[in-house]
Amino acid sequence: MSANNAFHIAVLPGDGIGPEVMDPTLEILRKIEKTSDLKFRFTEAPAGANHYLETGKSMPESTVRLCDEADAILLGACGLPSVRYPDNTEIMPQVELRFHFDLYAGVRPARLIPGVPSPIVGADQRGIDLVVIRESTEGLFASMGKGIVTDTEARETLVITRKTSERLFEFSFRLAERRKARGRANGGLTCVDKANVFKAFAFFREMFNDAAKRHPDVKTDRLYVDACSAMLVKRPWDFDVMVMENMFGDILSDMTAGLIGGMGMAPSADVGDHHAVFQPCHGTAPDIMGQGKANPTGMILSAAMMLDWLADKHGLEGAAEAGERIERAVDKVYADGIKPMEFGGGNGTADIAKAVLEAL
Ligand SMILES: NC(=O)c1ccc[n+]([C@@H]2O[C@H](COP(=O)([O-])OP(=O)(O)OC[C@H]3O[C@@H](n4cnc5c(N)ncnc54)[C@H](O)[C@@H]3O)[C@@H](O)[C@H]2O)c1
Repeated sequence: MSANNAFHIAVLPGDGIGPEVMDPTLEILRKIEKTSDLKFRFTEAPAGANHYLETGKSMPESTVRLCDEADAILLGACGLPSVRYPDNTEIMPQVELRFHFDLYAGVRPARLIPGVPSPIVGADQRGIDLVVIRESTEGLFASMGKGIVTDTEARETLVITRKTSERLFEFSFRLAERRKARGRANGGLTCVDKANVFKAFAFFREMFNDAAKRHPDVKTDRLYVDACSAMLVKRPWDFDVMVMENMFGDILSDMTAGLIGGMGMAPSADVGDHHAVFQPCHGTAPDIMGQGKANPTGMILSAAMMLDWLADKHGLEGAAEAGERIERAVDKVYADGIKPMEFGGGNGTADIAKAVLEAL
């Protein structure tokens, strides 16, 4: 926090619908500023596919420096399928930031907001309120840019380390305990892996078991990722916090976003010991960009997560309350019947943003 008590927020709008969902989110944070003791200083910086087209770089050094100095980082979404490096992979500064700042815990909450349709039968009655924690710096993604491809074969190596896994599990148990304390769920934590086949995942599970001994108050479970996928679509209400390797989390967190209405509904945070990036789960949605159709809810709820993280880090209860106020405003808007175009309704970005602002 800077001398004038304002949180300095690095704002990376990115590409495609990124800036479209970022603008209303900043408006909402400005309204929070006017109606609370919190103060923000926003500094915008370039990153993404368009920046690469202009400069040949995914983001300038000044963006990384800004992110390092800021209290938190808000990111829209980056990358465009049509813009690629010579090796045919995409421009992904959001992934580079995870490695650069060691943001090992990817937090992906999936809460079904009352009034939002879920494809799961019974979810409207039973509810869905779970969190996928995706390890975000190693696993199969440790191989990013290092894979070996010849004419006849391709190899990518998965990495699981003790240093990262132990911090990841501590983070996950702490989150389960905080959720239990807030009365939001029953405080359970599920380790999702493939320990029946791969030694790396047996190692992962062993470290989870050790961490569980240090947190006897948290109910734990262990599931193989394939069985877990089936259970998630049959009984998502049985899950609370789930922790898993990077690639498994990449896939399952998109699936859990689908369970709560769609990509536009799902917020996320990439958290390390010192820095954190808050961004919606979705990408740049080139198919709808520039049309005012993007659902800003995931981005708005990511800003609420940012306030909760700042509250925890700085011991500032007011920031947590402001985050909860944003969540309640979003809930009210859906209870009142707003329906994003994303799931067949008539409400675009501006309608949803205006309604949340009014509900605040
Ligand atoms: N964190 C990130 O920055 C991030 C994450 C995922 C993908 N990407 C990039 O985004 C680009 C597109 O990727 P993709 O198509 O696989 O995923 P995507 O999330 O951009 O889109 C998938 C589908 O969901 C819809 N959708 C996504 N967000 C929405 C929203 N807020 N409102 C309404 N509909 C929404 C899109 O219209 C599309 O039909 C790619 O270049 C990819 O690399 C970036």
